[in-house]
Amino acid sequence: MDITTKKWETMFTEEEIASRIKELGKQIEKDYKDKNLMVVALLRGSFIFCADLVRSIDLPLRVNFMTTSSYGNSEESSGSVKVSSDVTVDIEGYDVLVVDDITDTATTMDFVLKYLKGKNPKSIKSCVLLDKPSRRKVELEADYVGFEVEDKFVVGYGFDCGDYFRNVPYIFNVTDEDR
Ligand code: PRP
Repeated sequence: MDITTKKWETMFTEEEIASRIKELGKQIEKDYKDKNLMVVALLRGSFIFCADLVRSIDLPLRVNFMTTSSYGNSEESSGSVKVSSDVTVDIEGYDVLVVDDITDTATTMDFVLKYLKGKNPKSIKSCVLLDKPSRRKVELEADYVGFEVEDKFVVGYGFDCGDYFRNVPYIFNVTDEDR
């Protein structure tokens, strides 16, 4: 889709995103106070969210990354998740928090949680910025959710359209209507 010819509207401003992430950070800080926190962010969508989230958590923590892929450059999930790059450290004994930009069908998060559990973390939880419950194919709720959204095409703040627009600092929705 060429979104440059379509109407769009802001869904979450920079200020709204920053304020919600501060709240999430404080909650995580409380819950992980005496734990051994290892954040595992799923690339690429979550890179901006993760960067802001970890800076709102005032605790000693480690950060690592995984790349999973199911969508490629298409808007529909292929349904099967692949690990394109794995975590680069041993997560055994850590309290792992998997961070992603969105749970849509939840196929990705379900796969990653099961996959990482196989590496014997002490505990494992999930945190997503956006949640689209209406799209679920797998029954799963993230432990920490920024915003629940309707089934709209979201772009910006890490979310891409054809791999562009991830750098837009707010989240917007592209409609089917021409400008
Ligand atoms: C997107 C998004 C999530 C996943 C969510 O990743 O970043 O990881 O899909 O969808 P699901 O709940 O239906 O599994 P994508 O494969 O588009 O890669 P990206 O992170 O590089 O944008």
